[in-house]
Amino acid sequence: MLLTVENVSKTYGTVEAMRDMSLEVDEGEFVSIVGPSGCGKSTLMEIVGGLIAPTSGTITVGDTPVNGTDPDIGIVFQQESAFPWRTVTENVAFGLEMTGVGKEERLTRARDMIELVGLKGFEERYPTELSGGMRQRVAIARTLVMKPKIILMDEPFGALDEQTRLILGEELSRIREATNATVLFITHSFDEALLLSDRIVVMTARPGTVKKIVENPLPRPRDSTIVSDPEFGRLSGELWESLREESMRAMAGER
Ligand SMILES: Nc1ncnc2c1ncn2[C@@H]1O[C@H](COP(=O)(O)OP(=O)(O)OP(=O)(O)O)[C@@H](O)[C@H]1O
Ligand SMILES: [Mg+2]
Repeated sequence: MLLTVENVSKTYGTVEAMRDMSLEVDEGEFVSIVGPSGCGKSTLMEIVGGLIAPTSGTITVGDTPVNGTDPDIGIVFQQESAFPWRTVTENVAFGLEMTGVGKEERLTRARDMIELVGLKGFEERYPTELSGGMRQRVAIARTLVMKPKIILMDEPFGALDEQTRLILGEELSRIREATNATVLFITHSFDEALLLSDRIVVMTARPGTVKKIVENPLPRPRDSTIVSDPEFGRLSGELWESLREESMRAMAGER
């Protein structure tokens, strides 16, 4: 198993955010997490990424416990994270620069990645000259260029309109097929989850834990036309049925 989350709990002061969460992700797998707002999804991401420590429980990558950030684990956040004073190429090459990769190799790898995410022609532009969707592509390229073993994505398309989300989802699906990346992906969108994932984890209301794991049998590679597949509709219904109850509990503030 590449990533193992074992009995992880997290309490912030008096708020119990997560309780006894366990999850395994195999190499090359794409796993999505859905759950009501405030159930601890970002908390889980921050713990797996080594940005915060769990109150109890362990995270291991391969055989190594996670204790702090690790270049093998790349993170794409929801918020804008590009440096405004750096061009697209300079943004994408930033991590390589920090880890001492030589200029020539840096530029080659950055350009290849920029092309892979569909930003060819925008290499010398600054973030303010790009659309929101294009800036998200920069964020994805910046993470992928480091070749992490595991990519964590916390609602990377959350701020975008539905069409852009589906198109970027399709592109992520294509990139995933090309790189065989292992991804843990948080989303509120069932369409996105079903387009991209091998498995979808439904979390309970806070304190968050695994409620249900739905296997996605839809054949890969997939594109957004999959939304009209009857099996897609059935799976989407199954996810909503499971999540609806938890969302109502979260709204009522009980569990
Ligand atoms: N740094 C913090 N200090 C105190 N409480 C926190 C902190 N971060 C998160 N929490 C609390 O932990 C719970 C889970 O928060 P988290 O951000 O993980 O939820 P989420 O599932 O990502 O929600 P959303 O879907 O809205 O992004 C919330 O009740 C939140 O108030
Ligand atoms: Mg969150």
